[in-house]
Amino acid sequence: MGNTISLKVKDVVRETSDAVTLHFKQPLFRKVKYKPGQFLTLNLDIDGQKVSRSYSMSSAPNLDNTVAVTVKKVEGGVASNYINSKVKPGDTVSMMEPMGNFTLVPDKNSKRHVVLFGAGSGITPLMSILKSILFFEPASTVSLVYGNRRVDNIIFKEKLQELKNKFGNRFNLVYCLTQPDRSWSGLKGRIDEAVTVNVINMLPKFDEASTEYYLCGPDGMMESVKEGLKKVKVPKERIHIESFTSSNESEEALASLGDLTTTEVTILLDGEQHKVTVPPDKSILDAALDQGLDMPFSCQSGLCTACRCRVKSGEVKMTESDGLTEDELKQGYALICVGHPASNDIVIEPS
Ligand SMILES: Cc1cc2nc3c(=O)[nH]c(=O)nc-3n(C[C@H](O)[C@H](O)[C@H](O)COP(=O)(O)OP(=O)(O)OC[C@H]3O[C@@H](n4cnc5c(N)ncnc54)[C@H](O)[C@@H]3O)c2cc1C
Ligand code: FES
Repeated sequence: MGNTISLKVKDVVRETSDAVTLHFKQPLFRKVKYKPGQFLTLNLDIDGQKVSRSYSMSSAPNLDNTVAVTVKKVEGGVASNYINSKVKPGDTVSMMEPMGNFTLVPDKNSKRHVVLFGAGSGITPLMSILKSILFFEPASTVSLVYGNRRVDNIIFKEKLQELKNKFGNRFNLVYCLTQPDRSWSGLKGRIDEAVTVNVINMLPKFDEASTEYYLCGPDGMMESVKEGLKKVKVPKERIHIESFTSSNESEEALASLGDLTTTEVTILLDGEQHKVTVPPDKSILDAALDQGLDMPFSCQSGLCTACRCRVKSGEVKMTESDGLTEDELKQGYALICVGHPASNDIVIEPS
């Protein structure tokens, strides 16, 4: 984890007026290994500035020949507009190796129902998961509930229809549009709590114990879906969430960590030891970047795990730990973009 790779763009495919897919060539040797639902953090050079952004892979491992990310323009967004207008076949892009815990690895003997709720660019990891399940878990069923504004905003519309034609009853495809034209006969409006409850009641019934839910879209949508799923008594452990948007650490979140004081932290980076002074109002990552250290990071809000460090001694408290698995927490990893010193003897290393 944390290693950098460089991949060549093989193809750039326009999906909608505001979204493109970059298809990267798989290297002949040392192929990029990843799990369905994981993401890449691209390191771009935009007008002389180093910009790092994470993008979930829309390709599926062991199925698609290229490694693909699909990027939707965000108004005023630096990287998404650059990728949509400037990246071309033949370009080489530097990136961090695949990461992320929003994954579902297919098991050919499994028989389950995988229910995916997505909106807009949130389709990307869901696309990877749904292809993997359809192709590699012959006894499982996938249901996708996908929200967009209009029909022409639906990313992968043709591919999804092809999958529907190929897999029939094993793939339930439900669109929900907020601004459909008059001819639209499908679901209308946002994917909210009521839509979630309706859709769940509409879908074929499966054993609840073998049903998993994956959500990716705007945070508001995911909150509503969670509420809807709570209403139909889906246990929390069956709901998996990927958020694309970051929020700064709130004062409340910082206050919840108790008294923070200015503390010196030792960071091991590329075989060297660096002493970084972390003030109470800054994360360890911010303090390290202020000091000019070339630390790995992307979302800066505890979502992407790009800044994951192993805590070799001392204690780091986090305002957000959802990005790490229970195992990672037990093994002593911390996300330092939301990490603050809780002792005076901290030694950490990106890992
Ligand atoms: C784990 C992870 C996976 C991701 N996967 C994808 C993906 O597959 N496809 C994809 O298109 N994006 C994805 N993103 C979002 C992506 O990393 C960037 O945040 C996004 O492209 C905007 O970057 P930007 O440089 O264009 O915007 P910036 O210049 O960083 O921001 C411009 C403005 O847009 C707001 N903003 C930033 N991101 C969003 C957003 N997603 N929606 C609405 N407003 C936003 C910012 O708050 C800011 O006000 C993912 C993010 C994470 C953390
Ligand atoms: S930079 Fe994304 S989790 Fe820290």
